[in-house]
Amino acid sequence: MPPLRVPRPRRYLTCEPRHFDVSYAINPWMSEGAPVDTALARAQWESLVRVYRDLGHTVETVEPVAGLPDMVFTANAALVLGGKVLGSRFHAPQRRPEAGAYARWFTAAGFEVRTPVSVCEGEGDFVPVGGLVLAGTGFRTTVAAHQEAREYFGVPTVGLRLVDPYFYHLDTALFALDDENVAYYPGAFSPESRQVLERLFPDALIATLDDARAFGLNSVSDGCHVITSPRATGLAEGLTRRGYVPVPVELSEFHKAGGGAKCCTQEIRGSSDRRLRSSSSRGGAMEARCD
Ligand code: ARG
Repeated sequence: MPPLRVPRPRRYLTCEPRHFDVSYAINPWMSEGAPVDTALARAQWESLVRVYRDLGHTVETVEPVAGLPDMVFTANAALVLGGKVLGSRFHAPQRRPEAGAYARWFTAAGFEVRTPVSVCEGEGDFVPVGGLVLAGTGFRTTVAAHQEAREYFGVPTVGLRLVDPYFYHLDTALFALDDENVAYYPGAFSPESRQVLERLFPDALIATLDDARAFGLNSVSDGCHVITSPRATGLAEGLTRRGYVPVPVELSEFHKAGGGAKCCTQEIRGSSDRRLRSSSSRGGAMEARCD
């Protein structure tokens, strides 16, 4: 019998794809550039939001800005831990103005925003797992930004080097299943970083290249339900075997820009999340059981 998984209610920030398009190429997915079906993108985004709400999560939206087609990828807005916000500084000039738009949203929502000095693409490259933050580098976020995050939040970061341009952000190659474990595609990482992952997560769910290319690792888990790509079928089987519940959501239009469910989702972790985390790790489930 797989272990019983317990979901934790989350607060997510998303952005309606009103101005979404592929009008430049800053990752290999975009260079392959099929035209975007705007109506379909909107319907897919709406179903993602509906799924989150049906699962009991809170979903908020930041107003999209014309001329910033990648603003739908709110995961790049920031890293938010314990109610503290480390904003973004984008690598690509085309995306740089997004940082101000996201920062204005956080400020209006009552958060103080620290703007990083170094290139830093938020949850695209930062994945909190329990008390650690896994921190990607190689294509976008710099090692200097890992240090900024470590000092700002006072949490240990673990640097991981990405080596395959199709997996240019950490969140395209790895996601947190819960506060203890991750799923990842080893081929996206340098041999040294693979060793680090093996040592930290000996029981990780290992994904295939096919699952990774299907955006299976760009998934969002609430500790039980995993919002994932319907084409990542091997991953779905692995999740089910371990007691997680895969919830497939088709986001094919966003794949054309190099993004999936996680890229479209920024998690806002408040100061009370720590308490929730410790109570659930003691087995004191204050939320519904996963079914
Ligand atoms: N076109 C965007 C870029 O290359 C996609 C960002 C996807 N976001 C993510 N969190 N992986 O920057």
